[in-house]
Amino acid sequence: MKALLLSEYNRLTIAEQPRPEPASDELLIQVAACGICGSDVHGYDGSTGRRIPPIVMGHEAAGTVVGVGSAVSAFSPGDRVTFDSPVYCGFCDFCQAGQINLCNNRQVIGVSCAEFRRAGAFAEFIAVPERIAYKLPETFTFSDAAMLEAVSVALHGVAVSELKGQETILVIGAGMIGLLLLQASRAAGASRVFISDVDETRLKLAADLGADDTMQASGALLIEKIMRLTGGRGVDVVLEAVGRDETIATGIDCVRKGGTVTLVGNIAPQVNLPLQKVVSRQIRLQGSCASSGEYAQAIEMIASGKIKVAPLITAVAPLSEGPSWFDRLHAREPNLMKIVLDPRRNAESGRQSPNNDIPSL
Ligand SMILES: NC(=O)c1ccc[n+]([C@@H]2O[C@H](COP(=O)([O-])OP(=O)(O)OC[C@H]3O[C@@H](n4cnc5c(N)ncnc54)[C@H](O)[C@@H]3O)[C@@H](O)[C@H]2O)c1
Ligand SMILES: [Zn+2]
Ligand SMILES: [Zn+2]
Repeated sequence: MKALLLSEYNRLTIAEQPRPEPASDELLIQVAACGICGSDVHGYDGSTGRRIPPIVMGHEAAGTVVGVGSAVSAFSPGDRVTFDSPVYCGFCDFCQAGQINLCNNRQVIGVSCAEFRRAGAFAEFIAVPERIAYKLPETFTFSDAAMLEAVSVALHGVAVSELKGQETILVIGAGMIGLLLLQASRAAGASRVFISDVDETRLKLAADLGADDTMQASGALLIEKIMRLTGGRGVDVVLEAVGRDETIATGIDCVRKGGTVTLVGNIAPQVNLPLQKVVSRQIRLQGSCASSGEYAQAIEMIASGKIKVAPLITAVAPLSEGPSWFDRLHAREPNLMKIVLDPRRNAESGRQSPNNDIPSL
């Protein structure tokens, strides 16, 4: 089969690889869509150490089951499926408690690091354990399914924020995750959702996706705007989706006393904490990692239109265009959001619109 192989850092090639054999608990899937994740782009140049070559990356995928292992019971060939990227063990203390994102023996599809190596879905076929797979509704496009991981991350960020309804929210960062946090918090019953970014084009998208107010501001200017909008009180919850010193400090200044700042962004490995503000204003700082059981809800939210993902998909392209899309993403070309690769397409057939998806082969 053909696969997009990271043969050395900053070098992707289309390589011939053996087609995987499904183990007894695995599904063999013909990949129809696989999104390029920010973590793939950061792994591609070696900066994270989580994509040690040689590795086939790609974990935001969907496709059609073409084979099943002997112990698989819930899936059969022809099923349209997607899967979550962490492969949890199912028997450690955390898994037993349902906190599969915190599994002690967690591996991740399309990741290679010192502890493990697992081939990903920038390939014609992939084998994954049945327990991480989900069936897709008939109307669901494969390219929309490539957005499920990001949607689950946003739903988890909102879930750990424990909204009760009617909260005022500030989302900091209108990137992929911020735009989904905006929609997820709205769906969870927030009364007003504000969003800030330094990039105007991202804010235009945020306005189209239902933000009550968009703010091209950061630091003191953002704090001033939020205080004006909330009568000097601050918002109930800040959903931080950038992950830098400045944005986290601003988030702490924008939240009301006793409010919550949920930390989803994590670009910086370490930040300065305005400790006395957090303590004396009794602010809850809540970390949010990946997702934990939000996949089914994410499928439902997209299917029902409560969360819109099509505006966040920039292009659907054949696998052969993978190297050039990685270069463009790595160079931080403006206005690129999600790029989805479809290994069923070849370069000659050209690009099709994301919604013009072929349901199955
Ligand atoms: N916790 C998790 O499980 C999880 C999962 C996925 C991504 N993330 C993290 O979430 C963050 C966002 O990811 P993304 O995919 O949306 O990235 P992205 O690059 O699409 O978006 C980041 C946005 O932040 C904006 N930004 C940069 N500096 C800013 C500032 N000073 N003020 C306001 N906005 C600013 C950028 O213009 C951009 O729109 C990253 O840190 C990523 O690592 C966390
Ligand atoms: Zn991802
Ligand atoms: Zn476990």
